[in-house]
Amino acid sequence: MTIQWFPGHMTRARRQIEEKLKLIDVVFELLDARIPSSSRNPMVDEITGSKPRLVLLNKADLADPDRTAEWSRYFRDKGLAVHSIDANAGTGVKELAGKAKELLKEKIDRQIAKGMKPRPIRALIVGIPNVGKSTLINRLAGRNVAVTGDRPGVTKGQQWIRSGGELELLDTPGILWPKFDDPVVGFRLAATGAIKEDVLHIDEVACFMLKVLVEEYGAALTERYGLEELPAELPDMQAAVEMLESIGRRRGCIVGGGHVDYEKAAGVLLRDLRSGKLGRITFEGPAAEKYK
Ligand code: G4P
Repeated sequence: MTIQWFPGHMTRARRQIEEKLKLIDVVFELLDARIPSSSRNPMVDEITGSKPRLVLLNKADLADPDRTAEWSRYFRDKGLAVHSIDANAGTGVKELAGKAKELLKEKIDRQIAKGMKPRPIRALIVGIPNVGKSTLINRLAGRNVAVTGDRPGVTKGQQWIRSGGELELLDTPGILWPKFDDPVVGFRLAATGAIKEDVLHIDEVACFMLKVLVEEYGAALTERYGLEELPAELPDMQAAVEMLESIGRRRGCIVGGGHVDYEKAAGVLLRDLRSGKLGRITFEGPAAEKYK
């Protein structure tokens, strides 16, 4: 799903989430473990207010495990509960009810002390498009439920989806907008598939990614594309273009006159990257985190 965000959309999305918050006990904030900062809505603290929140680093199967551990520490240090999952395969998902219970322990203990039987914990999943909200809802439901975002003009009652005996989810997740203003963030969002290529030039996204790959995951480039003697870094865009050209040649992305089709080469690189064929890669670390 691609959403072009305009101020009106943002206001509406925010209002829809605020309405849902009244109905729930806990927020599951879904981030992409490969880009935990870039996939995070800059206003999420403000939007979710004082609701207990669990940060979920999703697509952890595609992310660098060392970096995921660093990011988990980073969020914990900020006072947030955090857990990494792979919603596709279900890894880490069965722990969610227990994690939510821990967050709500005081409230649940108070209910028990009053002789009340705690009801299932009600949760709302929020996150930017493509971060895996529907996949997680289906996983928690144990079946495929048709998940749709809120559409303007479509009013329907909120439905609850049961997940085991202890958790209930709102059937429509909260859709947050990513922050586009920083071009680096835009490249990261495009590289992971959070925004579609037609928003940014695919070859530019690929060249940007090559700079990261050379610096931090050079071995993956050597292994997958046979690129030998990689430099420690790509000093400029021209060097990245040359590397994309080498990849294109090796992968047969050739057009008339023996020239490399850069768009095709970029497509090969980005597909490999997104599907994990280049290994488990994270595009940003908490050390450079600007939104502290
Ligand atoms: P959304 O509701 O937040 O918009 O996201 P959705 O669940 O539709 O997931 C987007 C894509 O991400 C899907 O791929 C889904 O399979 C994939 N995905 C979700 N969670 C995980 C995960 O933990 N690991 C991995 N590897 N992939 C995950 P898709 O159907 O192929 O869509 P697309 O990538 O072609 O857009």
